[in-house]
Amino acid sequence: MGREGEPIPEVKAPEGPKGVINVPQRLLMGPGPANANPRVLAAQCLPLLGHMHPPFFKIMDEIQAGLRYLFQTESKYTCLMSGTGHAGMEACISNLLEPGETFVVGDKGIWGLRVADIGERFGAKVVHLKKDAGHTFSYDELKEAVEKHKPAALFLCQGDSSTGVHQNLSGLGELCHKNGTLLIIDTVCTLGGVPFFADAWGIDAMYSGSQKVIGAPPGASPLFFSQRAVDKLKSRKTKPISFCWDLNLVGDYWGWYNSRSYHHTGMVSTWYAMREALAVIGEDGLENLWEKHQRLHNELWAGLKEMGLEPFVEDPAERLVTVNCIKVPPGVDWKAVIDYAMDTYNLEIWGGLGQTVGKIWRVGIMGYNATPGNVELVLAAFREALKKQGKLPDRPFLT
Ligand SMILES: Cc1ncc(COP(=O)(O)O)c(C=O)c1O
Repeated sequence: MGREGEPIPEVKAPEGPKGVINVPQRLLMGPGPANANPRVLAAQCLPLLGHMHPPFFKIMDEIQAGLRYLFQTESKYTCLMSGTGHAGMEACISNLLEPGETFVVGDKGIWGLRVADIGERFGAKVVHLKKDAGHTFSYDELKEAVEKHKPAALFLCQGDSSTGVHQNLSGLGELCHKNGTLLIIDTVCTLGGVPFFADAWGIDAMYSGSQKVIGAPPGASPLFFSQRAVDKLKSRKTKPISFCWDLNLVGDYWGWYNSRSYHHTGMVSTWYAMREALAVIGEDGLENLWEKHQRLHNELWAGLKEMGLEPFVEDPAERLVTVNCIKVPPGVDWKAVIDYAMDTYNLEIWGGLGQTVGKIWRVGIMGYNATPGNVELVLAAFREALKKQGKLPDRPFLT
């Protein structure tokens, strides 16, 4: 209220949204987000609980159990960061590196660049380990870098969605531990779609995203810390710079340290959705999900190769199955293909990102969208769009 006698300002007319929201139905077969499972979306309509209510803590416990299965870990240090994959990314970096510490970053696409940038912002001494787009690091290259720099942490992205490569992680945990290094992994576009074993592979910290293979809406970043990572957090000389991502505090809300205290308001409806998505993953079974993603990747490539299209990643052993990168052939208008898919089928396929813009298309086969019918539709869209540009010999529709 204003002071007594003061004229009340005129209320401006609303300019904002009017009527009921109208959203087109799209099939999201780009690098993400993917469509969410309707059962998962429905969970978001359930009544709100208080973020410190015991029934909500029970849901948080269920989420942690689901995450332990998804990450293949016995660690009690699992949680959802409130935010997208970037929240988990900043949380790992800001909690596990102190200003001035050396951070070796595997830079083979946009995500390495992003992590290096964030590492520098938090004061780490970043060493870029560079690789050309479309290739991954060999064990020997990583061994040389870790032994030379003895970094506080090594970062690698398991699946780089900007270049379509799959980084082999085997043996790296042991290598890092021998050299006093923490191993931090990005699994935003891989978790649930390809094998990942947090404990068996000696991973120390991992973050992911809800909106790809996990099949939930964007807004929750699954996170894992090993005991070594928590020991490092607890022995820091300086406080983590970010209050929002401080895992001393966020972890306490998730019960990591045998108590529960308020840090921020948990994302109640988003976490209901994650609880449901994790239940679906448990019902499907990880081995079945990994097999399905591999099989549909093979089906996609069989169809693309028939059209004369080639993978951007030459070595099949380095090729990511969840985000497929397809070379744009000379003389083809890549944008027209994307527009055709959207205009004709409400189907999202996407172009490159960072250094791959204009060079590739990206097709995601992830989570709820990983079905043979969706792969066929993507192939039909490519076939028709290329034919329209005179870049494909006559072929029957949907062979
Ligand atoms: C491999 C990878 N890392 C990190 C991110 C960032 O995640 P978000 O956009 O959810 O913050 C993405 C997003 O596409 C990604 O594919």
